[in-house]
Amino acid sequence: MLPTVYRAAAAALVALLIAAYAPAKAALPGQRVENMVFYMHDLPNVTAAFVAPPQGNSGPSLGTALMFDDKLTRGPRPGSTEVGRGQGMYSVASLGSGLPALLFVFTAVLHKPVAYDGSTICLQGSDRTFLAEREIAVVGGTGRFRFARGYAILSTVNFNLSNGDATIKFNLTMALPHHANQY
Ligand SMILES: *[C@@H]1O[C@H](CO)[C@@H](O)[C@H](O)[C@H]1NC(C)=O
Ligand SMILES: *[C@@H]1O[C@H](CO)[C@@H](O)[C@H](O)[C@H]1NC(C)=O
Ligand SMILES: *[C@@H]1O[C@H](CO)[C@@H](O)[C@H](O)[C@H]1NC(C)=O
Repeated sequence: MLPTVYRAAAAALVALLIAAYAPAKAALPGQRVENMVFYMHDLPNVTAAFVAPPQGNSGPSLGTALMFDDKLTRGPRPGSTEVGRGQGMYSVASLGSGLPALLFVFTAVLHKPVAYDGSTICLQGSDRTFLAEREIAVVGGTGRFRFARGYAILSTVNFNLSNGDATIKFNLTMALPHHANQY
């Protein structure tokens, strides 16, 4: 028989775990939740350009910055239907020579489906690329995605160590106003 204090602690832990694994809370009244998955193909020196090497002695890579205009596709293969472009930048935002965290700031400029053409979604956050899954914020949008708020789960599908080519999966969960803007 566990002492009461342990049983109470165990119950609290179980409650905490259930809370942690419960599905994300539904949207607030007047909102709906929408999911979107796309894949970004980042090709250094092809669709991503180094714009700033680190200056001074702050660390081996802190400040290394790349600007990109990467293809976004519906599926993971590079030849999959292009749904838009990821336009923005990432830069090494962590000190030290260990595993880097990137500041990732970009706009998903969508072309497909037709209803999304010209609409954008703005994403921002810390991309700890060494983790199997990481989360960045959906901070807003335009067109059909006006007032979007939410998060994106990132995972690396492919990474070529020799040239840096990467395919990143983005799984977005967004709260949107009930009455999406119609075009
Ligand atoms: C990785 O990049 C190298 C150098 O560009 C290339 O030769 C190789 O085919 C690439 N590997 C894959 C799996 O695409
Ligand atoms: C990209 O270009 C930079 C600057 O010219 C060069 O230092 C780097 O090796 C190149 N990287 C690849 C993967 O080609
Ligand atoms: C995207 O994430 C949601 C939960 O956030 C999950 O239910 C769904 O299966 C994921 N979709 C894909 C294609 O990974």
